[in-house]
Amino acid sequence: MILFFQLLLWIHPVIAFTFPTWDGFRDLLVRKTSELRSIHLQKRAVNKTLWVRAYTYEGSTFFDEWDFFTYSDPTNGLVQYVDRDTAFRDGLTYITEEGRANMHVDSWTNLTLEQVTSRSKLRPSVRIHSKRRYNHGLFLLDVAQAPHGCGSWPAYWSTNENWPVDGEIDIIENVHSNRSNQVAFHTNPGCFLTTPGNFSGIAGSTTCDASINFNTGCGIVDQSIASFGPTFNEKGGGIYAMKWDSDSIDVWFFYRSAIPTDILEGLPNPGSWRLPSASLSSVGCPIDNYFRNQMIIFDTTLCGDWAGTSYSRVGCPGTCEELVTKGANFVNATWSINSLKIYNKTVINTWYLDGGASDIQFPVLTTLFAAICIFLSALL
Ligand SMILES: *[C@@H]1O[C@H](CO)[C@@H](O)[C@H](O)[C@H]1NC(C)=O
Ligand SMILES: *[C@@H]1O[C@H](CO)[C@@H](O)[C@H](O)[C@H]1NC(C)=O
Ligand SMILES: *[C@@H]1O[C@H](CO)[C@@H](O)[C@H](O)[C@H]1NC(C)=O
Ligand SMILES: *[C@@H]1O[C@H](CO)[C@@H](O)[C@H](O)[C@H]1NC(C)=O
Ligand SMILES: *[C@@H]1O[C@H](CO)[C@@H](O)[C@H](O)[C@H]1NC(C)=O
Ligand SMILES: *[C@@H]1O[C@H](CO)[C@@H](O)[C@H](O)[C@H]1NC(C)=O
Repeated sequence: MILFFQLLLWIHPVIAFTFPTWDGFRDLLVRKTSELRSIHLQKRAVNKTLWVRAYTYEGSTFFDEWDFFTYSDPTNGLVQYVDRDTAFRDGLTYITEEGRANMHVDSWTNLTLEQVTSRSKLRPSVRIHSKRRYNHGLFLLDVAQAPHGCGSWPAYWSTNENWPVDGEIDIIENVHSNRSNQVAFHTNPGCFLTTPGNFSGIAGSTTCDASINFNTGCGIVDQSIASFGPTFNEKGGGIYAMKWDSDSIDVWFFYRSAIPTDILEGLPNPGSWRLPSASLSSVGCPIDNYFRNQMIIFDTTLCGDWAGTSYSRVGCPGTCEELVTKGANFVNATWSINSLKIYNKTVINTWYLDGGASDIQFPVLTTLFAAICIFLSALL
């Protein structure tokens, strides 16, 4: 009896081969055995993209790594940008109790119309340039409040001294109390916004060349009517994300109540987010030829080339110069920033073992059969 089961254990593959009618049995024991032997575990390469925190501007140290720009406004606004000491002394710049970095336009001093029109005294405001320069990255700005109101022209953007050769990226920008943000790019000739593209906003001009169209650049207006202005602030602002790599420069806006959890957890994964509001693709603009060494800039100017020339068309009172004389007109011209976090893209070359189709049930069956034979032979 013992011998019988031991014999059965060794000869069952032979039986299976010898009796072709026992197809099912043979299939189970033999054909799949050969299949199992032919499986080559393959090492497959994959590139995993990780965004790793590289730098943070936040809380009490927010203002440490910035230069305060003090030249007259290059866009002809009716502001006087003040230096760091003046900004902190006069309360234009400070950290709030909640740890937010605030930047104000002076909303308490009155000027005379003569001072404004002659530009002998203009309204104090703040413009800061990051000391660090960036090439590529994921820039997450958590903003609680952005400036708006008649005459205001705020911007969160990036460029450098070699403009427009090294490019300009406008991430948050608009004028007055417009409710939709406009993203724009200004470059050397030869860079075009591809439309339709992988973005949800509404494209304007598609020529990014700063030397034509009065430097309109190529722009995309967010469809959300809470991406700028009063509604943006009422909803507590949100997160503006800008992703810049060789493939594209993309901008997303997330309401505070709809910030993706991967951002909240500190492990942002743009690949998992919805379509960006704006995207400049390398299809029409080889990104690395047009954008380099960007410094980040926050500013709020008044009137000037955009807010001044559009002033009479948006239902604001009087003239922009008259508006600038009264401090109280600028109570809403305030940046209030929770943080600006910059992440670097890290591509990890990794691999996994690919075993093809799963035949896992077969070894279980033969093992079971062999175990039964061994068990029975031992028992008897
Ligand atoms: C991964 O990236 C390397 C360059 O770092 C590239 O040569 C390779 O083709 C990529 N592999 C895959 C599977 O995308
Ligand atoms: C500025 O002007 C407003 C309105 O004309 C006036 O109410 C206010 O007191 C003035 N502020 C100062 C500091 O003079
Ligand atoms: C992140 O990238 C910037 C260039 O944009 C570079 O200067 C910096 O060293 C990088 N930081 C880290 C932590 O890799
Ligand atoms: C708001 O801004 C967009 C683009 O910046 C512009 O096309 C639109 O006319 C503006 N709307 C108003 C009411 O000013
Ligand atoms: C949009 O995305 C698709 C799929 O990733 C890509 O093939 C296409 O080139 C993209 N279009 C543009 C303008 O970048
Ligand atoms: C400031 O914003 C609030 C809320 O949107 C608005 O009611 C008020 O009129 C604004 N004030 C000025 C001077 O723009």
